[in-house]
Amino acid sequence: MTPDLMEAGTEALNKAKGLPSNAGESGGREAAYGRVVEPDQLDVRHGSILYLDDISVSFDGFKALNKLSLDIAVGEMRCIIGPNGAGKTTMMDVITGKTRPDSGSAFFGSTIDLLARRENEIAQIGIGRKFQKPTVFEQLSVFENLELALKADRRARASVFFKLNSEQLDRIGDMLKLIHLKDQAQRTAGLLSHGQKQWLEIGMLLMQDPKLLLLDEPVAGMTDEETERTAELFLSLEGAHSLVVVEHDMKFIGELTTQGVNAAKKKVTVLHEGSVLAEGTLADVQANEKVVEVYLGR
Ligand SMILES: Nc1ncnc2c1ncn2[C@@H]1O[C@H](COP(=O)(O)OP(=O)(O)O)[C@@H](O)[C@H]1O
Ligand SMILES: [Mg+2]
Repeated sequence: MTPDLMEAGTEALNKAKGLPSNAGESGGREAAYGRVVEPDQLDVRHGSILYLDDISVSFDGFKALNKLSLDIAVGEMRCIIGPNGAGKTTMMDVITGKTRPDSGSAFFGSTIDLLARRENEIAQIGIGRKFQKPTVFEQLSVFENLELALKADRRARASVFFKLNSEQLDRIGDMLKLIHLKDQAQRTAGLLSHGQKQWLEIGMLLMQDPKLLLLDEPVAGMTDEETERTAELFLSLEGAHSLVVVEHDMKFIGELTTQGVNAAKKKVTVLHEGSVLAEGTLADVQANEKVVEVYLGR
């Protein structure tokens, strides 16, 4: 969930409880989160939406990322695999401004320096992140969760406590369909299955129309059927959004990489000990001896 969304949700919950809207749990950070950021022009004329170069992160001398470089094209779906502790989540922490690297550079498009931005700004300029655990507002309905996400969008902020217009209602309706929750719209989000909560959170991210979506183990804990539907959902986003998907589920990776846009050529990146061990089609990396040794062969 993005910081702005967290704030909007806390505000809405407090309002429902009759508390002042600033009595949130965000530890006095409202002023910073509420700051209006000037629209940033994303420049993708060179074809890259995300460019990481030589990024290193260490925790007490341990290198979680070690000269990591990564280049994601506009509209690309990139799957990232790698054993536990390879640095996949840390990489997402760097992209989203949660962790500052010791060295290296990170650009969104060719002009936006991510290392000079704060977490909430990075969310606002179009990078959406799905954490491993679903984080939805459990007490609110599915519809209300999407409504909040829509209203947390900077472009819709002015209307936070006003009624939705018909265009916004349509957007929520379309999203409910896309995330397979049309018939659950009035259901309390806390009562959804684990997989449905994951879809709802993805829907909430999409309401904010991110250009780049980072998804950390999105199908962990899902049933086979939910996993398959999630693959269909991601494939339908390809092109309009750029996606970076971290997963362990090889069947899921197989579905994402062998279908949809650019099917035969889609790249998979293998991380190991904080750097790129191999990159290529799924077949390429599965046949790579180094990969077999450190990861697939275990
Ligand atoms: N905040 C932190 N403090 C200390 N060590 C960390 C921290 N975050 C991650 N690490 C370590 O960095 C390594 C990479 O972790 P992580 O990025 O979570 O890997 P992955 O997501 O690929 O499993 C692990 O060894 C982990 O223990
Ligand atoms: Mg992880």
